Amino acid sequence: MSKLRAAITSVGGYVPEDKLTNADLEKIIDTTDEWITTRTGIKERRILRDPNKASSDMAAEAVKEILAKKQLDPLDIDCIICATVTPDMIFPATANLIGDKVGAKNAYGFDISAACSGFLYALNLGTSLIESGRNKKVIVVGVDKMSAIVDYTDRTTCIIFGDGAGAVLLEPTPEDVGIMDSILYSDGSGAKHLHMKAGGSLRPASIETVAAKEHFIYQEGKHVFKFAVTGMADVSQELLEKNDLTGDDIDWLVPHQANLRIIDATRERINLPREKVMINIHNYGNTTAGTIPLCLWDYEKKLKKGDKLVLAAFGGGFTWGAIYLKWAY
Ligand code: UT7
Repeated sequence: MSKLRAAITSVGGYVPEDKLTNADLEKIIDTTDEWITTRTGIKERRILRDPNKASSDMAAEAVKEILAKKQLDPLDIDCIICATVTPDMIFPATANLIGDKVGAKNAYGFDISAACSGFLYALNLGTSLIESGRNKKVIVVGVDKMSAIVDYTDRTTCIIFGDGAGAVLLEPTPEDVGIMDSILYSDGSGAKHLHMKAGGSLRPASIETVAAKEHFIYQEGKHVFKFAVTGMADVSQELLEKNDLTGDDIDWLVPHQANLRIIDATRERINLPREKVMINIHNYGNTTAGTIPLCLWDYEKKLKKGDKLVLAAFGGGFTWGAIYLKWAY
């Protein structure tokens, strides 16, 4: 019997209307459009300004787009996996809130915390649920409202991050398409270089933690950059070799959008021209778990059935990995 594969059969996305441009940032911190553009490739980001809206609202919009495109009854969704580091609340899981907002009353759901690699971790798990035959329709979401944890007086972090959500529908297929292979890694010793100091059980929120600005992203940019360049490039190359592929066989690299220089390093390592790389960092910045599904969303019309894609990410944890898939529609 041929193996049942898990295929992405639809993509949805959502970015807030409000833009935060490099020119806007020039007015609030000591920076320039030229510095941000040459060091990161970012021109603008989207910001969810409505104080009553959170990650689940952006994710629900992305999922609703899938429901409309596929004319899918939300009651038919079996499971929602939400990758995020900016859940609406510490608990319950944002996946549960998304399920409620889209009417997925028969679905169970849970969150995955793997920062910028979160979507890959969630996609890997969703794939197993489909391949095992346990579930038939799994929604995998990557969403982050990074503006909720960014200190807009810190010029080393506020220039990078933005808000947005992307989602895919995973379904079984007997065809030779879908998720083919994955390699995922994590290394908790990297936590010291990229984390949020307070708000968890180690340092619960207090007047002191707020005064010390410990509820914002702490990032040692240079250090993370070094690990990200080698981590994302190495794992992409390892995945190709494991599947007897070279860059020539790959139609699209879908890299986490953290910094254009990290994207270029990965691309060069697996020998791909820029035209084969999905890039939207100039429009949205780094939306953490949102970047990879938002790339798929932006480039959906260019994709053809059978196209070979490598998805690659590196982020907080440290977490990193790559997924090889064949596009299914
Ligand atoms: O997605 C999750 C994982 N995160 C990442 O992958 C991010 C990885 N890191 C990066 O992308 C880069 O390290 C940054 C974009 C965060 C920073 O770029 P960099 O080229 O590593 O800059 P740097 O931190 O080495 O700073 C170089 C200089 C410093 O000045 P001095 O000490 O050389 O005088 C900084 O103070 O640039 C200065 N600087 C800025 N100047 C203008 C730092 N931020 C800014 C700024 N505008 N926004």
